[in-house]
Amino acid sequence: MTSILPHGGKLINRYEPNLPTDHIQKEVELDATSLSDLELIGVGAYSPITGFLNEEDYQSVVDSLRLADGTVWSIPIVLPVHEKQARTLSAGDQARLVFEGVTYGVIEVEDLYRPDIKHEAEQVYQTADTAHPGVKKLLERPSYYVGGSITLVKRPEKQRFTEYRLDPAETRQVFRDRGWNTVVGFQTRNPVHRAHEYIQKTALETVDGLFLNPLVGETKSDDIPADVRMESYEILLENYYPQDRVFLAVFPAAMRYAGPREAIFHAMVRKNFGCTHFIVGRDHAGVGNYYGTYDAQKIFSRFTPEELGITLMFFEHSFYCTKCEGMASSKTCPHSKEDHVILSGTKVRELLRNGELPPATFSRKEVVEVLIKGLKEKTVTA
Ligand code: ADX
Repeated sequence: MTSILPHGGKLINRYEPNLPTDHIQKEVELDATSLSDLELIGVGAYSPITGFLNEEDYQSVVDSLRLADGTVWSIPIVLPVHEKQARTLSAGDQARLVFEGVTYGVIEVEDLYRPDIKHEAEQVYQTADTAHPGVKKLLERPSYYVGGSITLVKRPEKQRFTEYRLDPAETRQVFRDRGWNTVVGFQTRNPVHRAHEYIQKTALETVDGLFLNPLVGETKSDDIPADVRMESYEILLENYYPQDRVFLAVFPAAMRYAGPREAIFHAMVRKNFGCTHFIVGRDHAGVGNYYGTYDAQKIFSRFTPEELGITLMFFEHSFYCTKCEGMASSKTCPHSKEDHVILSGTKVRELLRNGELPPATFSRKEVVEVLIKGLKEKTVTA
């Protein structure tokens, strides 16, 4: 059995725990996002990227959704630093990458540049509106970027979700061990509700395995916290999924809320984890009304299947239909809106926070119980 090729053809490995760093004087301060990016570059999740983007690659990604060599890449993976720090660095330098006083990596500084942030926002997020969480974060981060290849020398503390943290080389091995030739990846930053379950299982009907890969890096404050979600995934898989057909592991990246651009990024990363297929449903990685419902599907038509190297599985907006008495989508159900159980994310969070149960046609009872309990505990400790 052969595994799917990583993006760019080769799985990057830039983890060298024994690399001496004490002699390196210069240092660059990381934020939580760059720390998670450093780790993900180091273990190959962002293959073929070997470091934080230099100016040429950055411009190319922002304007053309490709690295300078033409490889499809949609999200700028950059290392922002403050002007004061930028002044201490020059091309050719080595610098330690430090988070809260601890060295996690080394960068070979290739260049330093000042990005046009407004242009980046308009290209990547399709808006410069500061109410957009991705744009807001972009503006909050420092305004100089350092480009250059990295070496990861220390893994960030794995205090959370240890058993679910697997590197791309490890998930690839799991899929091989299970004899899966085809694996569909599922990105989520939410609990798995019935609509998610429906599209996952519909996809699973035609492939060997499902890789449930929730994002657990930084998300916006009103999203359900990752630890509560993890418990809800466990109970759902235990009760409603065949154990030999599904595999759960976390994706420790930050959420960008870049809709279509992020869908491409999510697909390429899952290819690196060994997925042959990837699900994109309605408003993937969207927020508010910034993107059209199916924009994150349409954007893939800009590339050839060979360039993408992973098969996309697109799904229409799915829901429970009381007339069909089952899950369906606008593609398979002839009934009107009044017959469909559709709740907005905001509405669901409101119900859960008030300890009220969304209907079983929207979310499994076991999942809802975990969410209500988890959110209640958060409020008590907050
Ligand atoms: S996301 O930001 O991670 O995309 P979410 O966790 O809600 O958000 O979605 C995970 C995946 O399920 C995405 O591909 C999304 O498009 C899809 N999805 C979510 N809800 C539905 C739905 N009701 N119908 C079809 N697809 C959906």
